[in-house]
Amino acid sequence: MSEESLEKFTLRYRVDVLFGIDTIRDGVKMFLDHFKPSRVVVVCGRRSARVSGALSVIENILEERKVHHLIFDKVHANPTIDIANELLRTMMSHRPDAVIAVGGGSVLDTSKIVSCVYASGGEDVRPYFYGEKCIKSKLPLLAVNLTHGTGSEVDRFGVLTDELTRHKRAMASDLMYPSLSVDDPKLTVTLPREQTVYTSIDAFYHCVESSSTTLSSRFTRTLASEAMTLIVENLHRAYRNGEDIEARYWLLYASMLGGICLDNSRAHIVHAVEHAISGLRPDIPHGLGLAVVGPKLISYLYSKVPEKFTVLQTLIPDLRLQPREHRRIEYFLKAFVEQFGIKCSLSELGFGKDDLRDIVRLTFEASPHLLNLCPYKMSPEELAALLEELV
Ligand SMILES: [Fe+2]
Repeated sequence: MSEESLEKFTLRYRVDVLFGIDTIRDGVKMFLDHFKPSRVVVVCGRRSARVSGALSVIENILEERKVHHLIFDKVHANPTIDIANELLRTMMSHRPDAVIAVGGGSVLDTSKIVSCVYASGGEDVRPYFYGEKCIKSKLPLLAVNLTHGTGSEVDRFGVLTDELTRHKRAMASDLMYPSLSVDDPKLTVTLPREQTVYTSIDAFYHCVESSSTTLSSRFTRTLASEAMTLIVENLHRAYRNGEDIEARYWLLYASMLGGICLDNSRAHIVHAVEHAISGLRPDIPHGLGLAVVGPKLISYLYSKVPEKFTVLQTLIPDLRLQPREHRRIEYFLKAFVEQFGIKCSLSELGFGKDDLRDIVRLTFEASPHLLNLCPYKMSPEELAALLEELV
């Protein structure tokens, strides 16, 4: 083995995660015992924090401990700079010394970003989003994760959309790691069926992409391979019966591994294109956008650099990593999402040929950092031709 084949990589693992059934109470108490906040902002969306029961557990403990708290429950899917600024203004008037984020990726990402901008003295999120200002400080943040998709509870990223430019992208900072995270599978059993599928597909593509970026390593490939196997084994069970706690446990474990993979090796073109799609149309769930474009894009990359996709051998053991197998990859990835009723078609999402120019432009404009990590440098023309096959 040559020295060059022994990869260099940075191992990141900076978050304590309480993982397991009924960990939420211990997590909240541990966080309050450690940081002793006197004023807390609890951030959530309109539905899942209440329906899952997580919010009432948190409120009861805060009331028992007489911690002054305010609930901000306006975060929506594909959160915008506008909603982040509304949370920032709320923090500026409430002056919290800690934040508890209760939700899926949208809530966790918004909370991670805004609590850091607030602690850094910022009064507007936009210059931080565009890198004109840097995050310099953070507030203690407890992330109570309610979905098995984003991995945001273990990573240093937060994704927002600028509603003016339609740019959707991830902000990254070492200060954005949560101070403590809770992954309690019981809190995911009330996830609606569609969200169960979309969030798991998000975790699945975190694994496929992170294990094939220019930053990928044996470490991420090992975790990704384990996580992908668990997703394929357990998603059907959770789809059929949302209350199957064992299936939820493994899907949540897999999404946490996917988050660690993402934190270490990031993602590439599937996420870049999806960010353009849901940047243009924020009503499209992130996981659905990935499901639609993923099979075509990954199979094309496989035809160019099959050796970067060893992780797929976990699911298709007789793959020989030959370019001619790319149609098999597309078939496999399509079949995986089609069994849950998803059609891999941009037309189904409401896009026509006239929209492709915008999708390609936004992909290259908003996500050059992800495209740089792609194992094969795709041109705008190549991307447009591939997307045209999906209309
Ligand atoms: Fe994602």
